[in-house]
Amino acid sequence: MVQEQFKQDVSFGLSQTPKRIPSKYFYDKRGDELFVQIMHMPEYYLTRSEMEVFVEQSSGIVASLAIRPGEEMEIVELGAGDGTKTIHLLREFMHAGVNFRYLPIDISSNALSGLEKYLNAEMPDLKINCMHGDYFRMLGDLKQSPVRKVILFLGSNIGNMPDEDARNFLASLSRNLNPGDKIILGVDLLKEKEIVLPAYNDSQGITRDFNLNLLKRMNRELEANFDLKFFIHDPEYDEAEGIAKSFLKSTKEQVVEIKLIGKRFFFAQNERIHTEISRKYNDTILRGIIASSPLKIQHCFKDQRGWFGDYIIDRI
Ligand code: AVJ
Repeated sequence: MVQEQFKQDVSFGLSQTPKRIPSKYFYDKRGDELFVQIMHMPEYYLTRSEMEVFVEQSSGIVASLAIRPGEEMEIVELGAGDGTKTIHLLREFMHAGVNFRYLPIDISSNALSGLEKYLNAEMPDLKINCMHGDYFRMLGDLKQSPVRKVILFLGSNIGNMPDEDARNFLASLSRNLNPGDKIILGVDLLKEKEIVLPAYNDSQGITRDFNLNLLKRMNRELEANFDLKFFIHDPEYDEAEGIAKSFLKSTKEQVVEIKLIGKRFFFAQNERIHTEISRKYNDTILRGIIASSPLKIQHCFKDQRGWFGDYIIDRI
């Protein structure tokens, strides 16, 4: 059960030094809502920058995929989101006369049904098959079909993985692809702290609420007694390292009890729980991550400011 995994991960993570909790636990119902709000914050440039890439450069992106006239294809999107970026690409595939099917994969059946409704209304001729579940189980199935595939993994979602995990993820993705398949990987690019840090510390406090919501979730689902008055949102960005990190910092010495785990956790004053990393990339970093996989960077489409990149990656 999902709840068991949550208990285990929290129990383990809060017993470590430094304390940590996996960022995937941000996304309960309230967390999903807050993330939608984050994407509208003026400081959170990532979504708008990637949107610009798809609005302005979708024809270039489709051209870079070297599709033969009339060729049959499958466009698979991992963690499909709301479709507002992808629709520009899908329209371009239509215009180019590609005979394709769109296969969004998501763990949220809610997100998928919203996406399907939106796309059916906007693109009635689109062939769409929603796939509900875990990426890799689905990808294993996809490998059976000989149809050429384009895998979309957008939004810098890969940035939540430490480089080692990203390497394993892309290696295992590439094992499920055939030579000639492509990946479009959307990543936030390395840039100054003055731009990155505010994206994780917006002035309206939405990102703060998003981070603190993890404590509320543990209070509710694990019968914990985190007092939200005594924890603060504490983000940082080390420009040389290129990784934004978010923490929840205890403002005083305190003990928190988590009933369903059957443990109490001690917090020193200023002790932090590490809740998220958001890695920023450039060609060199990405090349390092795919170096041991049969993958090769073909091109990078960037927004005008050069803040966000959508990499076209070849399965060689
Ligand atoms: C959805 C993983 C791309 O790391 O920028 C936004 C999540 N966390 N603000 C990111 C997030 C805090 C976001 N990703």
